[in-house]
Amino acid sequence: MTEANGVVVRTRGLTKSYGTKRGIVDVDLEVHAGEIFGYLGPNGSGKSTTIRLLLDLIRPTHGTAEVLGHDAHNAPLELKRQIGFLPGEMALYERMTGRDMLRYFAYLRGMSDLGDADSLAERLEADLSRPIRALSRGNKQKVGIVQALMHRPALAILDEPSSGLDPLVQQEFYRILREVRADGRTVFLSSHVLAEVEHTADRVAILRQGHPAVISGLAELKAQALRKIELYFSAPVSPQEFSRLPSVRGVRVENSMLELVVEGMVDDIIKVASRYRVENVISREQDLEEVFLTYYHDNTEDVGEGT
Ligand SMILES: Nc1ncnc2c1ncn2[C@@H]1O[C@H](COP(=O)(O)OP(=O)(O)OP(=O)(O)O)[C@@H](O)[C@H]1O
Ligand SMILES: [Mg+2]
Repeated sequence: MTEANGVVVRTRGLTKSYGTKRGIVDVDLEVHAGEIFGYLGPNGSGKSTTIRLLLDLIRPTHGTAEVLGHDAHNAPLELKRQIGFLPGEMALYERMTGRDMLRYFAYLRGMSDLGDADSLAERLEADLSRPIRALSRGNKQKVGIVQALMHRPALAILDEPSSGLDPLVQQEFYRILREVRADGRTVFLSSHVLAEVEHTADRVAILRQGHPAVISGLAELKAQALRKIELYFSAPVSPQEFSRLPSVRGVRVENSMLELVVEGMVDDIIKVASRYRVENVISREQDLEEVFLTYYHDNTEDVGEGT
């Protein structure tokens, strides 16, 4: 690869205003080679705007965007061919069959065959034999994904790729993304739902009103999350004993069950609990959704403005 220091996407102060309307403001991103980067934000927060800037489909008001080591605006054709793109709102060639359209894309990309198209189509259960216009939304989306990945791009930029896919196909799609990563290639993936990136992304940026409110490893983000532990005792116990422990953020009592909201280690809790007869302990996965939603707040302005 030609990108410097393994940085595949780099934006500096990237800003796009639509007249007086905010698009994105001062976005600084670095996406590393071989990672899946999740670009999250509510409707209208600027995901598609950022992606269009990376692909040089629109020009920034300020700032710069580099892809694969070149300014997005001056990237040579050879380099652009190493990018796979799935737009948020796809305009496909409605009268062509999926296969004809993929042949056309292969031709534009200078490919000698259809690359991975057939195996991708099979795995996603995409029907390439029917005219695109005859396909349902989800089935069109599958053809779009095949189109974006068929040439084994060094960088895949996917705008809300799993919207409209049913759960089984979604799982297969996530497997495909992990294989792309295992292959040392890079995925930039936008979504407005955490679940879509939670099981694939290494790092995420969460956009809020056109600007990343946070850029973090998913594991680090998870570590910030509070955990819930339910302790089922044989007889009611005093909640105060638990609420004064340093790791306990909150206690809820229900008969002889205590539900604790916990930050960090559970050692002190277990030691206190062990003084009583414990029937069951349920420790829930840290709730990333709650962390995520805290960054989503104050976004009333964004709602309903998506394009
Ligand atoms: N062509 C345009 N003209 C004017 N304003 C625009 C245009 N495109 C986007 N915007 C505005 O820029 C902001 C960001 O829009 P964008 O489409 O990037 O959001 P998004 O995060 O992709 O949303 P969604 O989840 O709905 O796809 C919104 O406020 C939107 O109204
Ligand atoms: Mg969008």
